[in-house]
Amino acid sequence: MLDDLGSLDPGSTVPPYRQIAAHLRSQIVGRAPGTKLPSESQLTSHYGVARMTVRAAMRALQDDGLVRSRQGAGVFVVDPAATSDPAAPRPAEATGITPDFTVHALSAATALLRVHSPEEQLRHLADLAAAVEVGTGVVRRRLVDDRLEADVRAASRQLAAASRRLRQAAADSTVAPEDQIAAARDLARHHLAEALPRRWAHVQAVAARAAVLAMALDEPDGAALCMAAWLHDIGYAPSLAHNGFHPLDGAGHLRASTVDARVVALVAHHSAAASEAAEVGLADELAAFVDEGGIVRDLLWFCDMTTGPDGQPMTFGQRMDEVRARYGPDHYVTRAMAQGMPAREQAVARAWAWICEHGLASSL
Ligand SMILES: [Fe+2]
Repeated sequence: MLDDLGSLDPGSTVPPYRQIAAHLRSQIVGRAPGTKLPSESQLTSHYGVARMTVRAAMRALQDDGLVRSRQGAGVFVVDPAATSDPAAPRPAEATGITPDFTVHALSAATALLRVHSPEEQLRHLADLAAAVEVGTGVVRRRLVDDRLEADVRAASRQLAAASRRLRQAAADSTVAPEDQIAAARDLARHHLAEALPRRWAHVQAVAARAAVLAMALDEPDGAALCMAAWLHDIGYAPSLAHNGFHPLDGAGHLRASTVDARVVALVAHHSAAASEAAEVGLADELAAFVDEGGIVRDLLWFCDMTTGPDGQPMTFGQRMDEVRARYGPDHYVTRAMAQGMPAREQAVARAWAWICEHGLASSL
């Protein structure tokens, strides 16, 4: 059973205990009553969470009437026969699922279309689909009314069709630039604000500079610059660390999301990442992303390389000195910085010329 339990999504806004409960629910449906669930310690180890998190998930399943804990023996899928007696509530009463379930399910699915962000739509949809799956399984096990089961089956089929339409609508929807930027900001905040507050201060300042410069750019360039500014250091987040090279760790995570591929590539190549990738042997991996060149990329580099680690404004020279001092002369970051210095200097010079040309120097 453990093999089928999946893993937690660190990028999800769903709390870990609810993710675990959802995984377990999907495995419980259809299991024979009396089936023993993995132990608390097995689940703790499998998901890499605290015991309290696993207990909260189990409590949710018990509240749903799906499992029962037996002192010293473990947690088991409930046996409906053990609770069936003439005084027991009818299925609709026991589960809360009534014959008009179809109407409720479809109205819920329709309501999802009013959720603006596609990510939000899909998250709510997953919750809804899990609820239907669980509801169907519970009713089947407690079934005494064939008509009720037929209603639930019909609801499931219709909900599946609604889900397909909803997913297509989400895929086709065009999200306003300001909402894309807000989503990028929220994603960066989610991964950095608590885990790395100093880095988060830097990112907020870089994004603020980018927002000033973006006013002189046409769309979609302005939105791309702002989104990349919010997301450029997301790869530093411990939750996303994969190979320890933050431009690639960040881009690798974003590539699997709905973030625009252009923004992902800007993140991958920001601030002369190519020279550092070569230094750490990751040039081939970085080559999977295209460095677009051009003014948007130069402005992103400028914003990053003229903002200090706490968000304070710095000249390019001060920033380079700060990095050298922070890492020391023998660190690979310092060596890579020297390798990539011509590219950095040229990008900053082009960006500064563009900033002056657009009368924005005094606004920074
Ligand atoms: Fe940065």
